[in-house]
Amino acid sequence: MKGIVLAGGSGTRLHPLTISVSKQLMPVYDKPMIYYPISTLISAGIFEILIITTPQDRPLFEKLLGDGSKIGCHFEYEVQEHPNGLAEAFLIGEKFIGNDKVALILGDNIFYGTGLSNLLKENTNPDGGIIFAYHVDDPERYGVVEFNKQKQVISIEEKPKEPKSNFAVPGIYFYDNEVIQIAKNIEPSKRGELEITDVNNAYLKAGKLSVRILETGTSWFDTGTFTSLIQAGQFVQLIEERQGLKIGSIEAEAYKSGLIKKKELKKLAKPLLKSGYGKNLLCIL
Ligand code: G1P
Repeated sequence: MKGIVLAGGSGTRLHPLTISVSKQLMPVYDKPMIYYPISTLISAGIFEILIITTPQDRPLFEKLLGDGSKIGCHFEYEVQEHPNGLAEAFLIGEKFIGNDKVALILGDNIFYGTGLSNLLKENTNPDGGIIFAYHVDDPERYGVVEFNKQKQVISIEEKPKEPKSNFAVPGIYFYDNEVIQIAKNIEPSKRGELEITDVNNAYLKAGKLSVRILETGTSWFDTGTFTSLIQAGQFVQLIEERQGLKIGSIEAEAYKSGLIKKKELKKLAKPLLKSGYGKNLLCIL
């Protein structure tokens, strides 16, 4: 399975922070935001990753991440010219996806939790679509899943004014290759975007959508507002300082996944020793 990280968008909810720099390069405690979704994909065993950025930010992401070979991955880059919606990722990424299945993760979504890596790995060979549902206090900000009494999904609505449940759809999605065709067939929504919710509804209509509930032991943050950005940073700081381990570190995740060995990890840690990031990396050895 291949992976796409969508790091486009205008980040207007974080202006003036994101007027000149991409939202997904903002710091979340000690590392750029995009490290988190990339490390989530790596933890799911997905090592071939397309990073979609805005045209102006592409060189910055390339400088930060390169071709991925340092951590045993393969990164490619494409641009999204305008914020035309999440589902456009499958059109932009058509060539990259080829005949494979694909996971999409949003560049501003952070996931953390025990068992998460195994849960994600179990979903990397979907026949149809697999999405998740997570209980939140403010579902109106997200795609919202409605379940019937048998816990079957009956609808998914994008940012409904009156949500039918508290279950939001987090920004990680697993699809079979059909997703390219589905994305080609959907129309822009009222806000002018190709909505991921419409892709999910197409799978639902075809009886090919599974929705897995993410346990409360898993933490999910989207970092699109000042408050959620700082809260995510505080969360990461708290866990990292307490446990001495790294969350969202692409180098650590690559080591855990066997993509790089002790020697390579040491080499990656060396230039990062001054900031303390490197020292933490060495802790896992
Ligand atoms: C997008 C999706 C929404 C999903 C959310 C997760 O919202 O449209 O369905 O719940 O990501 O972060 P947006 O980031 O465009 O507001």
